[in-house]
Amino acid sequence: MMSNHHQSVMFNESIDALNIKTDGIYIDATFGRGGHAQGILNKLGEQGKLISFDQDISAIECAHKNFTDNRLTLIHSAFSNMLSIITQQGLIGKIDGILMDLGVSSPQLDNAQRGFSFKADGPLDMRMNQTRGISAAQWLKSANEKEIANVIYQFGDEKKSRHIATKIKKYQQNHTLETTLALANIVSEVVKGQKNKHPATRTFQAIRIFINQELKQLEDVLKQSKDILSKHGRLSIISFHSIEDRIVKRFIQTNSRQKTLPKGLPIIEHKTEKTCLKDLGKHFASKAEISSNARARSAILRVASKN
Ligand SMILES: C[S@@+](CC[C@H](N)C(=O)[O-])C[C@H]1O[C@@H](n2cnc3c(N)ncnc32)[C@H](O)[C@@H]1O
Repeated sequence: MMSNHHQSVMFNESIDALNIKTDGIYIDATFGRGGHAQGILNKLGEQGKLISFDQDISAIECAHKNFTDNRLTLIHSAFSNMLSIITQQGLIGKIDGILMDLGVSSPQLDNAQRGFSFKADGPLDMRMNQTRGISAAQWLKSANEKEIANVIYQFGDEKKSRHIATKIKKYQQNHTLETTLALANIVSEVVKGQKNKHPATRTFQAIRIFINQELKQLEDVLKQSKDILSKHGRLSIISFHSIEDRIVKRFIQTNSRQKTLPKGLPIIEHKTEKTCLKDLGKHFASKAEISSNARARSAILRVASKN
């Protein structure tokens, strides 16, 4: 079924983490269908501002149709361009909080034509931004067996990655691999399904992450956030799998741990470097939320503030 609705995950927790000032300027890096954006707007006063990014044009089009709030600025762009866009707007160091709700939205998953779902047949696309880059089908055609196996292993933690890659290349000797169900069927010949988990879950996740360069995007925007945020500005980041969460965790820890200079150096023995972030911890969705929204099961919210 195709829907245009996305149920926001950890809505209250992620918005409370921004510690919203009514006249503050906030960024919602992943607009989706605007659930979190609306939550932020509801807490802002007349002078407050929200800048929302999404690299999917259908999210932005939907926003233009449904949001008429003049405190909201919509930007169709990958969030890795945040530093340059915010610089152009003269807002460097003035952003009071950035919210990121990573991954894909329900409308993206539910629309078979986008190619994210192994449950319904559609073109094997998987691009969040369909105006650039190559589709999953094009990549699977041009990549060699080893490259495919590496992506499925690295970004999907899939033990059967090599076997899957061999099967894909074998299939392509006689057919063009261009639909989601064809790929899901190939994977299902190799991987056993588990309760509540389709055999192709990891493979689809891995290819999607690769096609959209999701980890590189995340690493880039995290680095940029240190300059973008104001003093005491907040980061509120929801991730949905361990690879993504590890990147967020390491970034926060690296920038919030005091680096004590080596002991034994007589004069500077107790000198510590100033840290740039304060780690405000991690949170999981409540049992009640998980029981009403399966997507919340894997959500991890991490929060930090700039010193
Ligand atoms: C999980 S949904 C966000 C849902 C949203 N918080 C809501 O409440 O409706 C993620 C959205 O972020 C977008 N997105 C993912 N990675 C992105 C990136 N690197 N740059 C910009 N948008 C991105 C996706 O296109 C998708 O619309």
